[in-house]
Amino acid sequence: MNQELINEIRQKSDIVDVIGERIPLVARGKNYFGVCPFHDDTNPSMSVSREKQIYTCFSCHATGNVFTFLMNYEHKEFQEVVKELADRAGIEVQGLKQKRVSTKYDEWYQAYDLAMKYYQNNLMSSKGKKAREYLEKRSINYDIIKEFELGFSLDEKDQLTKFLTGKNYSIDLLNKAGLTNEFHDIFHNRLMFPLHDLTGHVVGFSGRLIVKSDQNKYLNTKETEIFKKGNLLYHYHIAKQESRKEKYVIIMEGFMDIIRASTIGVKSTVATMGTALTKDHIGSIKRLSNNIILCFDGDEAGKKATMAAGTLFEEANIEVKVISLPEEDDPDTFILNHEKESFYNLIENAIYFSDYKIKALQKDVNMNSSEEKADYINKVLLETAKIKDPIRVEIILKDLAKNYEISYNTLEKSFRTVQEAQQIKKEKVVMPSQIVTPKVTLDKYQKASLIIFYYMLEKTWVIDMVSKSKIVFPKEEYRALASAIESFYQKNGFINQADFYTYLGNNEKLLQIFSQMEALTLKDEITEKEMREYFKVLDQYRVEKTIQQLKKKLKEEVDPLEKAKIVEQIRQVRIGEEK
Ligand code: UTP
Ligand code: MN
Repeated sequence: MNQELINEIRQKSDIVDVIGERIPLVARGKNYFGVCPFHDDTNPSMSVSREKQIYTCFSCHATGNVFTFLMNYEHKEFQEVVKELADRAGIEVQGLKQKRVSTKYDEWYQAYDLAMKYYQNNLMSSKGKKAREYLEKRSINYDIIKEFELGFSLDEKDQLTKFLTGKNYSIDLLNKAGLTNEFHDIFHNRLMFPLHDLTGHVVGFSGRLIVKSDQNKYLNTKETEIFKKGNLLYHYHIAKQESRKEKYVIIMEGFMDIIRASTIGVKSTVATMGTALTKDHIGSIKRLSNNIILCFDGDEAGKKATMAAGTLFEEANIEVKVISLPEEDDPDTFILNHEKESFYNLIENAIYFSDYKIKALQKDVNMNSSEEKADYINKVLLETAKIKDPIRVEIILKDLAKNYEISYNTLEKSFRTVQEAQQIKKEKVVMPSQIVTPKVTLDKYQKASLIIFYYMLEKTWVIDMVSKSKIVFPKEEYRALASAIESFYQKNGFINQADFYTYLGNNEKLLQIFSQMEALTLKDEITEKEMREYFKVLDQYRVEKTIQQLKKKLKEEVDPLEKAKIVEQIRQVRIGEEK
């Protein structure tokens, strides 16, 4: 689909209407304001401009056009959002499926795909009988085998290697992709689970023993250029679709848990590869849903993992929920041994991580020791101070007052003290009573740059001015942004902020610059003379930078003649500045 059509769809999808259909907006001057859905907002800090067709949050710096809003708000891909808005605007679009870009890993993907089919074939052949029996014993039926593309690796040393080299894959590639080890297969006699990357390519396998052995129960493909446990999540490519229908995404520990949950229709689920959750994982998961639920094994290890994962989310400012299973269960066994409604109930009744922690703290308190009790209460107050919802805070404090027979007033007073201490620690979190006003601290060079960017998007003559000038923007992202603006303009012959956002895609670094720029609230018109002033500021930056570099050179230079030359150069630059 071409850019013009995409721009047309954007123009016919008024951003105030589209956002207004989802969150309440109030008009204020030229702009509209609403509570920002992209962070834990209480006062309206998101501004939406009908004129520019963009939104900007002054608190969390989310910014973009109607496409990025829907992508982030509804967790959808660009193509889908464009299609939906086209339908809404009554615009016919065909061939929306973007041409698949070929990548240097296409051959790897194909090899993995073939390997998967090879393993699947084994499972269904006479050699797969033992594995099929194992699956049957675990109540994994044919449909599930198909759905999860399960397979079986043979007890032979190089069957897969022969098969793939026979299909003309070089042994080099197979080794590098972790499919083979020299001329040998990696997996033997194991039930094979294909592992997909976030977009759905098979990029690795996990193989499970089907007999008791002293080997590791699961064996995974080694880390390769495309298989990284730190960002891959089992079942993510399916959860991406499913999380739209469900009001949650559930994180589990094991493959079998995910597979079992799928049998009762709980498919908006992901699992790590037996490793701890990483920040990368969190970044991917938070795109799926605002309701993230941890459902780990009921044993001590599972509780520990819950604590670690919940804390990591907390640090990312996301409060997750928790399902606690009985000590002896994991999701797999729980679902096997209960009516499916019991598990749905667990999902429905998942508790907030903060409540979970408070419960966990309570476990070891010796009720006969006033010291322990006081210590416990202080810890609970610390946890409670992290909760933003005042209603939940009050409920917790009331419970605490009742259970420990302390007056609510005393408790509340202590709570305020703890809360204030935390707020100071978290650096001034100001809560303005009305619409949030932006606060940006920029040095003069940054400010001048942002002003120049702002007008580059408004007046094409400013782009020309920049192209012809020698100015250097003071940050790498700024330089990237300037050249992106220039190339957009060269390509299209026009520019506006909203279409330029489409062009940038989800480049958060660059978009962040825009939110700072919006926060400056600049006037609409500017004269060339005024513009020159900002260019002068940046020119000063260039001069300072050059002089700095020359001075450094001067320090390192030993030859007196060369030294004199550098001094002269510095003088020249300074004169240039004064002109
Ligand atoms: P579990 O031991 O809880 O596996 O490990 P499970 O899902 O319950 O599997 P079954 O029911 O015994 O078949 C959880 C996850 O830890 C990783 C795997 O990703 C597994 O799904 N793991 C476990 C390994 O990577 N290697 C191992 O040896 C064991
Ligand atoms: Mn388990």
